Amino acid sequence: MEKVIIDTDPGVDDAMAVLYACLSPEIELMGLTTIFGNVTTDIATRNALALLEIAGVDVSVARGADKPLVQEQREPAWEVHGREGFGDVPAMSPALSAIDETAAEFICRIVNENPGEITLCPVGPLTNIALALRLDPTIASKVKGVTIMGGSIDEGGNVTPHAEANIWQDPHAADEVFAANWPMTLVGLDVTHQVICTPEDFAALVPDAPKLGGFLNDAAQFYFQFHRKVDGIYGCHMHDPTAVISIAHSSLFGVDHKPLEVIVDGEEVGRTKISEKSDRNAVAILREVDVAGVQEEFLSMIKSGF
Ligand code: BDR
Ligand code: CA
Repeated sequence: MEKVIIDTDPGVDDAMAVLYACLSPEIELMGLTTIFGNVTTDIATRNALALLEIAGVDVSVARGADKPLVQEQREPAWEVHGREGFGDVPAMSPALSAIDETAAEFICRIVNENPGEITLCPVGPLTNIALALRLDPTIASKVKGVTIMGGSIDEGGNVTPHAEANIWQDPHAADEVFAANWPMTLVGLDVTHQVICTPEDFAALVPDAPKLGGFLNDAAQFYFQFHRKVDGIYGCHMHDPTAVISIAHSSLFGVDHKPLEVIVDGEEVGRTKISEKSDRNAVAILREVDVAGVQEEFLSMIKSGF
């Protein structure tokens, strides 16, 4: 069992990732921390609580930062995930509430209580992860790993020609995270742009898992329209679930080890690139993916739900 904290900005593909983690017998979900990006931090927190509520999973949600470390806050990705974060699904009102600790405090506490066991899985901007490192730099030597959905090496960007959305929303935080000496894996657009699920794949979830599959199928309709309009693809990119799946299924991926840095200003702001800096540690950068294996792992796990 992999003990995982997902740092998330739900978000349609975040919902896929969180529900996958709730169902997977290989993952012990230790909590969710929330961040702006696809939506505001307030909406992300409400949506994280709503996901746990529909999954019937009782773990903590800790609210994260409201804005990036340095740069001006950018607009949430309304056009990708809808005004409330789950496409056209109306806003939910979960009965659960967030804990009193901040995301950074929660991450530091859980890592310290479980040395060598926790994998952090940020699938939004990296602000909370950078703040946790600032709060307690010793967590770098106590995590099992940090699996990041974000960036790209050869694939270019998805919000600018150079930048992937999660890195672009807080490039300074991302660069601080890449500069730390801890075991990191980058699940970027190089692999997530290859993993596409279709409207038929999502419709097929509904008979087996009417509640969880039905919710994801409803939320995904808006996300499909965005992908059709902007990327010209039939279906959607499975960014965040691919990152979570990689934690317990590394054999589905080909990897390259290189240090990374982020361009924090100028025309290429938000671009991740191989670093020449001598003090940077290598990151495991996922470059190849068994697409059918990831699709099957995701779809079968959701179908195993209710
Ligand atoms: C990433 O940005 C967000 O829109 C998605 O949830 C994913 O985490 C993809 O670039
Ligand atoms: Ca996300």
